[in-house]
Amino acid sequence: MPMTIIIGAQWGDEGKGHITDRLAQDAAIVARYSGGDNAGHTVTIGREVFKLHLIPSGIIHPGVVCLVGNGAVVNPAVMLREMDALAARGVSVAPARLKLSDGAHLITPAHIAMDKAHEKQRGGAAIGTTLRGIGPVYTDKARRIGLRAALLADEEALAEAVQAHVAAKNEVLVKVYGEEPLDAHAVAAEYVGYARRLAPHLVDGPLLLDEALQQGQMVLAEGAQGTLLDIDHGTYPFVTSSSPTAGGAITGLGVGPRLVDRVIGVAKAFTSRVGGGPFPTELSDDAAVRLRGTGENPWDEYGTTTGRPRRVGWLDLPMLRHARRVNSLSEWVLTKLDILSGLPEIPVCVGYELDGRRVDSFPTDLPTLARCRPLYERLPGWAEDIMGARRPDELPDNARRYVDFVAKESGAPVGYVSVGPGREQFIVME
Ligand code: IMP
Repeated sequence: MPMTIIIGAQWGDEGKGHITDRLAQDAAIVARYSGGDNAGHTVTIGREVFKLHLIPSGIIHPGVVCLVGNGAVVNPAVMLREMDALAARGVSVAPARLKLSDGAHLITPAHIAMDKAHEKQRGGAAIGTTLRGIGPVYTDKARRIGLRAALLADEEALAEAVQAHVAAKNEVLVKVYGEEPLDAHAVAAEYVGYARRLAPHLVDGPLLLDEALQQGQMVLAEGAQGTLLDIDHGTYPFVTSSSPTAGGAITGLGVGPRLVDRVIGVAKAFTSRVGGGPFPTELSDDAAVRLRGTGENPWDEYGTTTGRPRRVGWLDLPMLRHARRVNSLSEWVLTKLDILSGLPEIPVCVGYELDGRRVDSFPTDLPTLARCRPLYERLPGWAEDIMGARRPDELPDNARRYVDFVAKESGAPVGYVSVGPGREQFIVME
């Protein structure tokens, strides 16, 4: 069985953890391929809510092996904290179940300090990063001075490399940004401690995946962030520093495109965004609260990683067309359809007015995007609560119409719809 890739189609927070958990029941391996603990994936099982940042969402299934792939970036302190929290709730995170690719790059406190210093320096033009050191660690990777996870297997080499790394970053932190230096010896000692616990989890990621794929097992590549946060295909510079799109899964896991058969795009039935940058369908005031929620429920639109209220707006079809194109999506998962229940009518952005003419595609060039005015089609709403629906024929006609409209206008079928945070609140569409 080949590899299935799960992609966020918007600006992250589409509910990828939910669908990954759902599809993981048929998978042998679930693998994260990009990003680090800037992600926040929520899996709800009955009354239990699991919030994961780094460990793949498949970990909740006892029979699934989870891999943090070479394209991901790993803060070892966060990984261990997450492992301990899972173990305390009875979820096994033994090396047989949880594996770390030796080509993944390590995040250090120096990367986090650099992230904070960069954002401070940008002032009003700050990207609004999650301050998890993501930009600086990928910068080091591209400069070929990064610390790869393989170092965790050699304590002496690790201590030496971490010390040199922190000393080099201190130069910049102090001389360029006027910040306090970090204690290089202390950080190195801390990392040696992490190495003792994490070294047994190290693997050659591509080899592990190839063995599974050769045996006909299913591999699920779990995307983090979203298409519009991709460094190439997103709203640059308000993006993350990696490739959350389908191409990122190929390089971030070391599996070639011939072995991919499904690319599933996860899109929320409306749009949300954390951090800065243009957002054509953004709403304010009461309409925004209606979509965002008040923060009382874990599935309300507040950042899993940062707790920040998310910016929210209506569904943007030019954006979904862009995501379908750059990922070659085979199908959609439309999440949080239940949040739209009770609206008399639902505006959906079907195109933009740009400099006096109509465009149907999503420009990723920021000045162009900032000039785009959304053109809305207003679809009829439905009054019924749909959280109990489990089959397509249990959805009200207008909810079906909304789903069909998304499929027709975006150019890909809708395979699944989610109508609540629970594992069972899922509808497989015909
Ligand atoms: P960074 O990834 O921390 O460098 O942040 C860069 C941008 O990506 C910021 O706008 C963040 O808010 C956004 N971002 C990063 N990870 C996520 C995520 O998992 N969900 C939503 N936004 C994210």
